[in-house]
Amino acid sequence: MNEPVKSNNIEEVTDLTTRRAFIAAAGAAGIVYTAAVGYPVYRYLASPAEMAASAAAVTEVSLKDAQKIPTGSALMFKFGPSPAMLIHHEDGTWVAFTAVCTHLGCTVQYEPAANRIHCACHGGVYDPNTGANVSGPPPKPLKRFTVLVNAADVKISRA
Ligand code: FES
Repeated sequence: MNEPVKSNNIEEVTDLTTRRAFIAAAGAAGIVYTAAVGYPVYRYLASPAEMAASAAAVTEVSLKDAQKIPTGSALMFKFGPSPAMLIHHEDGTWVAFTAVCTHLGCTVQYEPAANRIHCACHGGVYDPNTGANVSGPPPKPLKRFTVLVNAADVKISRA
């Protein structure tokens, strides 16, 4: 008479253990799933703030041998995390700008034949001497940097 009761208790204990194990496994899977989905979303949302912070941390860039670039050409480089350009004009003057379009952030290019800085995304045009927005949708000029040409390098710093 006691045997069936004992058997039921064991089954209940086994069921309870199985249920607890299942709930623990489901909870662990939920945590892993949340982390797998949440971390990329966090990185995506946090990246503009991190980019701005790291960009602000950089105040000067030294471009070794950039003093040798010929007139009428430009050198693309990174100023912190952002693209930038150093232009050596035909008249011997130097200018440097951020290469991030002020419209929607595409990378702009110097076009010496057309004497302009052009954004291919929506046709924005900037003055290559001043960085002023002269045509198309860009609402603001390109940010200009200070240029110091030395014998061994060109130093670019925030104006
Ligand atoms: S992003 Fe440059 S013109 Fe739109």
